[in-house]
Amino acid sequence: MKPQVAGPRNRSRPPAWTKRGSSMEIKNICVVGAGNMGHQIALCGAISGYKVKCTDVNDEILRAAAGFANTYLPERVAKGKLSEEAAKTARENISFTADLEEAAADADLVIEAATEKLDLKRSIFAQLDRICPAPAILATNSSYIVSSKIADSTKRPAKVCNMHFFNPALVMKLVEVVKGPHVADETVETLMDVARKMGKMPVLLHKEIYGFLVNRILAAQKREALFLYDLGVASSEDIDTAVVNALGHPMGPFRLMDLTGIDLTYHVSMERYRETGDPAEKPSPVVVEKYVKKEWGRKTGKGFYDYSQT
Ligand code: 3HC
Repeated sequence: MKPQVAGPRNRSRPPAWTKRGSSMEIKNICVVGAGNMGHQIALCGAISGYKVKCTDVNDEILRAAAGFANTYLPERVAKGKLSEEAAKTARENISFTADLEEAAADADLVIEAATEKLDLKRSIFAQLDRICPAPAILATNSSYIVSSKIADSTKRPAKVCNMHFFNPALVMKLVEVVKGPHVADETVETLMDVARKMGKMPVLLHKEIYGFLVNRILAAQKREALFLYDLGVASSEDIDTAVVNALGHPMGPFRLMDLTGIDLTYHVSMERYRETGDPAEKPSPVVVEKYVKKEWGRKTGKGFYDYSQT
């Protein structure tokens, strides 16, 4: 007798996504949040020919994002990766403003990349719903939060969807598009098309699941790495060395946390703990320690590694 496989593994494979409807034409993109992810998503859009307005409530972050665009584009030209004309057009395509109203008023698509807090995202989406033209799609780059938790803060749930980029967004090819039960086919088609036009490789999740594909797989690795570190089994450097040299990953879990931000790891764990009440979801002791000391990784100059000289 054939063994029975329990649970979801017994289900038939989800079908590959086939185009079911038309996609919207997108010209103007607004990126909300100019931090770690937002400034690079915005630049990806500008390099790919979209008119992009990037906004943030924090002037310093906004200035840093504009400064990054001003140095990154000439560097790409110097490296021979971008023509001078393409760099000039990309710089003209992108603008920075602290005024959400101004940034979103003519958007066909908004990509929200604000801090990973549900209440904040719901409040931003409610504002965007009031500001943006009725046909505009409102996407969230959230790392973990599914869009059905946000969609009902707007009057356009069919146009609210996850579009998840990876860090560094200018380099990493993958984009996860997640079709929640409220999301229209046209919204999915449009986001898949935008991702392709940005030179990305979009994958579609047919149903919502916390953490999507990649962050679920990464979280398992990160949890184990932090457990081994907190137990004093090995240093963060040696755990990274092990993962890079035995598993072939481009960087180990601690260097990766420094790249994505230890504040993000902290907020995500706290959000999950508040939601589930499960103590296993609480951030690990070393993550709490680094969060409190503002040692958040590359963005603050120190995390598990020191970046003050770079
Ligand atoms: N921003 C923009 N571009 C960058 C960059 C950055 N921070 N860091 C590196 N690059 C570019 C370089 O300019 C270079 O471009 P080129 O080849 O076109 O000239 C290219 O990336 C390679 O850079 P380097 O040679 O300096 O360094 P590496 O070869 O070590 O690559 C890396 C750096 C791309 C960051 C690589 O180490 C890597 O792929 N690391 C893993 C990243 C990863 O796992 N990301 C996913 C994180 S999870 C996530 O994002 C989920 C989210 O929800 C938080």
